[in-house]
Amino acid sequence: MCGIIGYIGNRSAAPILMSGLRRLEYRGYDSAGIALVSNGAVRVHKAAGKLFQLEAVLPKRLGGKLGIGHTRWATHGAPSDVNAHPHVSADGSIAVVHNGIVENSPALRARLEAEGVEFASETDTEIIAHLIARQEEQPIEQRVRDALALVQGTYGIAVVDSTRPDCVVIARKGSPVIIGIGDREMFVASDVAALVRHTRQVVHLDDGEVAVVDSRGYRTMTMDARPISKSPATVEWEDDAYERDGHRHFMYKEILDQPEAIDRTLGGRLDRQFHTAHLGGLNLEPGELLDVKRVKLLGCGSAYYAGITGAHLIESLARIPASAEPAAEFRYRNPVIERDTLYIAVSQSGETIDTLMAVQEVRRSGGRVLGIVNVVGSSIAREADGGIYMHAGPEVAVASTKAYTCSLVALALLALQLGRTRDLSPEQGRRLVEAMERLPADIEAALATEPLVKAIALRFAHCTSAFYIGRGAAFPIALEGAQKLKEISYIHAEAYPASELKHGPLALVDSRIPTVAALPHDALLDKSISSMEEVRARSGPVIALTHPGDERIAERADAVIEVPRTEDVLNPVVMAVPLQLFAYHCALALGRHIDQPRNLAKSVTVE
Ligand code: F6R
Repeated sequence: MCGIIGYIGNRSAAPILMSGLRRLEYRGYDSAGIALVSNGAVRVHKAAGKLFQLEAVLPKRLGGKLGIGHTRWATHGAPSDVNAHPHVSADGSIAVVHNGIVENSPALRARLEAEGVEFASETDTEIIAHLIARQEEQPIEQRVRDALALVQGTYGIAVVDSTRPDCVVIARKGSPVIIGIGDREMFVASDVAALVRHTRQVVHLDDGEVAVVDSRGYRTMTMDARPISKSPATVEWEDDAYERDGHRHFMYKEILDQPEAIDRTLGGRLDRQFHTAHLGGLNLEPGELLDVKRVKLLGCGSAYYAGITGAHLIESLARIPASAEPAAEFRYRNPVIERDTLYIAVSQSGETIDTLMAVQEVRRSGGRVLGIVNVVGSSIAREADGGIYMHAGPEVAVASTKAYTCSLVALALLALQLGRTRDLSPEQGRRLVEAMERLPADIEAALATEPLVKAIALRFAHCTSAFYIGRGAAFPIALEGAQKLKEISYIHAEAYPASELKHGPLALVDSRIPTVAALPHDALLDKSISSMEEVRARSGPVIALTHPGDERIAERADAVIEVPRTEDVLNPVVMAVPLQLFAYHCALALGRHIDQPRNLAKSVTVE
């Protein structure tokens, strides 16, 4: 969603801000802008649309060694030039960029209007600029804190003041802001992607913190002005990890990245001696693992689907009752939090607001939460009691691919460790360890199906609807396959447990609606083949995703995609890959915006 970048130092700020904004484009946005402080004034340039539209309105010469920039994803007020950030106070001295939502904006706006303030935009953010400007003459950080004390809602903000060309002030509540430490220059951003080109040393603000950043350092404090000291962390990823490497789309690159990414998720975590996994970051003693009576997995979208597979893995391998729930539903239904339940939040970004709030809800009630997170130092990673980093590398395309499969692998490691502290035998453990070690090669083999998958995609890309079916562990394979197809190709796709077809959806099946059937060779295969027959009997084309070796499938399906067979519980990892490629090639054939599909943002940080 929205993105923030800021710079203070000896270089011209504008090119740094623009390149930072370019790195934030992947999050999704509909307008952009920058504010530069020079010669005692704040100059703002902004435009609706994409960055090239902002570039078109930028003057040739842009002074200023201090500035802030923003990519906006409209919430309050349509995407337009005036609603784009930065927003300035009426006297022009203060400029603000903001991620988040001011929930009490109607009341604050009315109050400011009653005082005579004229608003230039419809945004909630403009309120913050006016509130800061009207605070009494005090240090800028005090004015920012006093203004924010009136704001209800969430924010990550960066503020510049024309009378203070020596600093930028940032603050955080519910939306990330970080400081990047350079050599006699400093950066601020909402996402490491925007500053990793310049530095990998960063400081993450926590909720309720404010920082004054100048070209040589930073001071951090709480909202009630208590100084706090924070130490820098090193960003795991290099700048070139954000490049497309010559591929047309980030999504494609990220699909191809999966063997290596999974290798990193596994890295050093498998134990061949005791046939188990070692997950250093869980912060749980073996005895505490034994005390876990239930597991609840939480996430949104594909991360929730990963949670469904995780629940299956944990229940199968560790025989602990486990279930998954969309984080947004969980947090609003006043859930019973139990001490002997282990809560697991799954999130690529570590910033998804509903997942973060669910984590906070569990912790507030005394529950214990692990995070399965990709972005190191992200909010969920820091809020959780412990967890597993995916180490998938940056995922730039909106549609999750490698983070999805890496989260499944992280969950499989956890299930193995939980299982081996219980009844999973050394022999079962050994088989799983070996199967996990083979996963990168299995994924390579799944990637090799691409020419076939592409041909199938070209055959079906013009359908208007598709069904995805699977049973047991294969049901979330269907869910995630349908998710990929709809989000990037805009083809309507629905996933069902195959057993549910005849309870309703079969009424829709005809020769125009293909059904993608996930058919791993597990205990439910015969039943799944029967469901496939039901579709065929209504002239529905079937695309079977399976393993080599079952004649019945080839005889009945219109197209067959075969991937290597692995341990049953690991099939969702390997089978995800051809479905990603299928969605990709359908979307490519339809000329869609694959990396930034319409209406979607990379990380959903507002409700
Ligand atoms: C789908 C997709 C989304 C995310 C969801 C959660 O391809 O990317 O459904 O999985 O928005 O995001 P994270 O994992 O960042 O919490």
